[in-house]
Amino acid sequence: MRVLVTGGAGYIGSVVTEQLIGDGHTVVVYDNLAKGHAQAVVYGAEFVEGDLAEGDKLNNTLAEHRIEAVIHMAASSLVGESVSEPAKYYNNNVVTGLVLLNAMLACEVKKIVFSSTAAVYGEPEEQPISESAPTNPTNTYGETKLAFERAMHWYEGAHGLRYASLRYFNAAGATEKCGEDHDPETHLIPITLQAAAGKRAHVEIYGEDYPTSDGTCIRDYIHVVDLARAHILALDALSERSAVYNLGCGGDGYSVREVIETARRVTGREIPVRVGPRRPGDPAVLIASSDRIKRELGWAPEFQDLELIVESAWNWMQAHPDGYQS
Ligand SMILES: NC(=O)c1ccc[n+]([C@@H]2O[C@H](COP(=O)([O-])OP(=O)(O)OC[C@H]3O[C@@H](n4cnc5c(N)ncnc54)[C@H](O)[C@@H]3O)[C@@H](O)[C@H]2O)c1
Repeated sequence: MRVLVTGGAGYIGSVVTEQLIGDGHTVVVYDNLAKGHAQAVVYGAEFVEGDLAEGDKLNNTLAEHRIEAVIHMAASSLVGESVSEPAKYYNNNVVTGLVLLNAMLACEVKKIVFSSTAAVYGEPEEQPISESAPTNPTNTYGETKLAFERAMHWYEGAHGLRYASLRYFNAAGATEKCGEDHDPETHLIPITLQAAAGKRAHVEIYGEDYPTSDGTCIRDYIHVVDLARAHILALDALSERSAVYNLGCGGDGYSVREVIETARRVTGREIPVRVGPRRPGDPAVLIASSDRIKRELGWAPEFQDLELIVESAWNWMQAHPDGYQS
């Protein structure tokens, strides 16, 4: 298939591109490099530097490359920033998303796989979280992702758009070539590994008084390759129906302390920690039920073991001590 990957110069987008190309698809990466890296655009992909707001450029790119489907990963995704700057998030995650949908319609591209998030659920009462849990975002980021999901639903009714919305839990890990290089970095695993590498003084633990086995929050981590494989399965299934899928590894998840301990084992380094107060809006436990995508598409995570996830991230970080600059 000829696929446009928006945000393909970012962390997950680069791995999705790598997997698509490995499977023989033709990929055009569309990214404004606001957060991504030109060096992260995988060899073999065509790169168009452009913003989602540029409707004409999107139209031309879709038409010129005879794109058949879009994987839409470009977004703003810092939870804290989304609360203090809602306009930025409505604009980049909803308004420009509609520019993309309209360009797709104009070019008769009717298939889209969308990067959604567990943040659409807010603070659910039941764990593991299934797709039928109520959506009740507690921040603008989750709210804007949900708004785009709803837009796709209505575009399906009116225009026959087919969509798969993938609600990711915490993506982590790396391939040999593609890894996580965010600025600022807000994700626990790279932060912990930066502390192991001496690039930050310590890891901050936000609250140690949660009702969990060691008092720290429990989260569900999914290897970025397993996540990328799910996109390809979802893309293939779009000819049959639209769908919403959770993507996490499920199980019992891992606490913040368990992640840090695993990183100590994998790296063999000291990792200083500092315990601070809870952050507002951090639920004690967030675990996905990914039963639906397993059942309907036969998806199965290959790298469920946290040690493998952390090891892959550490290997990438050691090969790229200054991220994509190195
Ligand atoms: N990383 C996670 O754990 C996680 C979890 C849930 C959902 N997500 C979602 O997955 C997607 C990818 O996440 P990531 O961690 O790879 O993020 P990322 O920031 O590394 O990648 C996003 C890319 O989109 C590009 N971009 C942003 N706005 C754009 C615009 N207007 N026009 C063109 N390009 C634009 C950025 O330059 C960047 O390369 C995002 O939509 C994010 O919300 C990520």
